[in-house]
Amino acid sequence: MNDLDSLVQQARAAFDAAPTAAELENAKARFLGKSGSLTELLKGLAALAPEAKKARGAEINKAKQQVEALLGAARERLAQAELEAQLRAEALDVTLPGRTRGTGGLHPVSRTIERIEAIFSSMGFEVAEGPEIETDWMSFTALNNPENHPARSMQDTFYVELKDASGRWLNLRPHTSPMQVRYARAHAARHAGKTESGQPMPEVRVIAPGRVYRVDSDATHSPMFHQIEGLWLGENVSFKDLKVTFASLVREFFETEDFDVRFRPSFFPFTEPSAEIDIRFGSGPLAGRWLEVAGSGQVHPTVVRNFGLDPEQHIGFAFGIGADRFAMLRYGIDDLRLMFDGDLRFLAQFR
Ligand code: PHE
Repeated sequence: MNDLDSLVQQARAAFDAAPTAAELENAKARFLGKSGSLTELLKGLAALAPEAKKARGAEINKAKQQVEALLGAARERLAQAELEAQLRAEALDVTLPGRTRGTGGLHPVSRTIERIEAIFSSMGFEVAEGPEIETDWMSFTALNNPENHPARSMQDTFYVELKDASGRWLNLRPHTSPMQVRYARAHAARHAGKTESGQPMPEVRVIAPGRVYRVDSDATHSPMFHQIEGLWLGENVSFKDLKVTFASLVREFFETEDFDVRFRPSFFPFTEPSAEIDIRFGSGPLAGRWLEVAGSGQVHPTVVRNFGLDPEQHIGFAFGIGADRFAMLRYGIDDLRLMFDGDLRFLAQFR
C-alpha cells in the first residue's frame, strides 16, 4: 500500500468514526483543509521535476477525489441519521386515545331541589325565589320573633354592614321563612279588593327554595345550607293536609311506599302548634331510624296579619324542608361538608 492509499484509508476511518456533522468537518480539515495532509502533499509538488510532478500530481488528485467522495458519503450518512432521530423524537402515537372535554353535571343539591320543585308543582304549588340578604323585619319581626329572641343574636345570624330604612342591620337570611311573608304579602296585594266582589281570594300555595346562613359549622352543619320553605293557606287547610302533602313528597322523592311520617311537637314563634317532621324508612340502609327532615306548623295568627290577611279566613300551615338533608338521604352522603367542598372526585359521581 503506498502512502496515498493509506491516507485514503485514514480519511475513511476518521469520517466513519465522526459521530456528528461538526466532528466530520474537523476530520475533513485534517485532510483537505489549508494545512491538511493532502494539501501539504500538493504543495510538495513544486519541488519535483516536471515529469515526476505530472505523475505524482495525478495520483494525489485521484486520492483527493477519493477522500472528497468519502466525505460526501459521510455527510449524507450523518444527515440521514439526524433526520431519523428527529422523526423518532417527533413521532405521533396514533393509537393514543384522544383527550375529551369533561362533561359537567348538576350538583346533588340542585338535583334534589329540582325534584322537589317538580313534585310540589304537580300538587299545584308555585315556586318562588327571594333575596338572601334580608331586612330584620322580614327575617324576624314579621315572623313573630320577640325583639330579644336568641335567633337574632350575632352568635346565630350573620349580619351585613348595611342598614335598612328603619336603621336596622341587614342579615343573611337564617331561614327561608321570610319568603312566606314576601310571597303572601304580594299575593294579598295582588288580590286586594277582589274579595268584595264575592270571589274568594285564591289559596296561597307556594314553595321557596334557596340558600340560608347560620353561624354554625361541623359535620352536620354548614354556615350556608339550603331550605325549601312551603306555605299553604286556604279557608280550612289543616294538619291533615300537611301530613298528606308531606307523605306524597316523601313517596315520590324517595320512590318508596315503605315509610312512616311523624309530627313531633316543637316550637317556632311563627307557627302554633309547631312540629318537627320526622320520617322513618321500613327498608333500605336507613331502615328503622327516625330522621328529622323539616320544621312545620300552623301559621300563627299574628303572622297571617303581617301577611296583610285575615287570620279568620286564611288558615293553613308552613314548613321548612332541609334540602341538603333530603340530598344526603337520597344519595347516601354522610358528611354535609362534602357537598360544599367543590371536590370534583365527589361531584363527578352525580353526573
Ligand atoms: N324556619 C324554620 C327553621 O329554619 C323552619 C320552619 C318553617 C318551621 C316553617 C315552621 C314553619 O328552622
